[in-house]
Amino acid sequence: MRYDYIIAGSGIAGLYAALLAREHGSVLILTKGSIDECNTRYAQGGIAAAVGPDDSPELHLRDTIAAGAGLVDEEAASILVSEAAERIRDLARFGVPFDSVDGAVALGREGAHSQARILHAGGDATGAHIELSLSSLARMSQITIKEFCQVEEIVFEDGAAAAVETLDTRTNTRETFEGRAIVLAMGGCGQLYRVSTNSEVATGDGVAVAYRAGAEVMDMEFIQFHPTALRLPGVPVFLISEAVRGEGASLIDADGRRFMPSYDERAELASRDIVARAIHTELAASGADRVYLDITHLPPEKVSARFPQIYRYCLEHGLDITKEPIPVSPAAHYAMGGVRTNVWGETTVPGLYACGECACVAVHGANRLASNSLLETVVFARRVVERTLEEENGRGTVDRTPSAIALSQPGPGETPPPDRPELQALMWEQVGIVRDEQPLRQATVALSAWQSALPPPSDRPGHELANLVLCGRLTAEAALLREESRGAHYRRDFPEPREEWRRHIVFRNDA
Ligand code: SIN
Repeated sequence: MRYDYIIAGSGIAGLYAALLAREHGSVLILTKGSIDECNTRYAQGGIAAAVGPDDSPELHLRDTIAAGAGLVDEEAASILVSEAAERIRDLARFGVPFDSVDGAVALGREGAHSQARILHAGGDATGAHIELSLSSLARMSQITIKEFCQVEEIVFEDGAAAAVETLDTRTNTRETFEGRAIVLAMGGCGQLYRVSTNSEVATGDGVAVAYRAGAEVMDMEFIQFHPTALRLPGVPVFLISEAVRGEGASLIDADGRRFMPSYDERAELASRDIVARAIHTELAASGADRVYLDITHLPPEKVSARFPQIYRYCLEHGLDITKEPIPVSPAAHYAMGGVRTNVWGETTVPGLYACGECACVAVHGANRLASNSLLETVVFARRVVERTLEEENGRGTVDRTPSAIALSQPGPGETPPPDRPELQALMWEQVGIVRDEQPLRQATVALSAWQSALPPPSDRPGHELANLVLCGRLTAEAALLREESRGAHYRRDFPEPREEWRRHIVFRNDA
């Protein structure tokens, strides 16, 4: 079958791109699970845009660049902040019910933002509202949606991406779909880590498929750890939104001592890397496995109205957050790195585009500012579609970085292949919040041996594990190479940023 647009992924990036692309041709969405299984629906805090009376795109740009610790691409970030308001209007037109107060849009506050600029929907259910609004529109439109369809490989014709090879994950049958533009919107790789806020489907598929196809992959060492995920025995990891700290919640230890002011003058609203590392330090010093987030200063009705999902989830597990502090610890949350693109979403492979979390236009640099990720997906997904309308689109207009490096070929080994928990434990312990040369080196050796031990994948779990191991290798190798600390990447043996490392690490598979 042939389509004008093949869009792999059904989170906000894929759906939004598809809804725009349907105006210009036939569209096929491919998704390995059901359409609403994605990270988007778990996003709580919201989407950042400088729409408040005292705000401006310039202030938003300044905060984005400061959080990114020297690696933000300023052109991309300027586009992000200046196109934000228009993209919010698009989402509202597509039916996203943003919250308002007294007739004006309600704006929350999150870490490292100098202004209240976070739009939200249903209190803390922003992602769920976006996903449902966009997926119901997509279902009602002319878009063809193939669920349970895993993208395995990109197929080339005359040196350009021309089709995708897929596996039906229920019948195990293969099919090839041809497309004029192939768009990867396949999300992040949070499942690399034992403790993660991400959905089960976040297995780095977009990065892995693109890397195997020869596209450049950048900034893989920069994994953002969210400081506050719920930590209750036997209860699945659940995000406690940064917006809770934005409403004045304090981080305290088991003795009720508030510790963040001694780490940063912005205290609980410092950037995520600082808060996550502070909690890590407190836990290492005390031997505890959790600290506490206290929002009991707010009237109970305000807490349950502003954070209905968090309130209900905790209550279902026996915790009334209006009366007791919430036990929390950090969790892997977001990959700043991904498939390298220009500001039009073009990858270094002709005909292949990427947007959303699997892409990297360096708009977040080394550390993403809270609630800039949903914004990035819509701003750059739109630019992908715009680009496909131009005559000479998608034909390799991104400079290939001359210094891109390839992973070494994994050598033959005796090691048995890992299972997902084993991989996640290794990444959490050796490529986690605080890193060091020896554990990183051991991790790269183990990951390389696992890569060669894995049998060729023939079903969805096999593909997911192979993709995770490849992303784990890219992350660990980059983290070992980067002998400095910058943004979310912290090396105990190199605790300061180093000017010679104010540059990106780029991988390319030339095999
Ligand atoms: C949160 O609500 O804390 C997550 C939002 C984000 O990751 O930007």
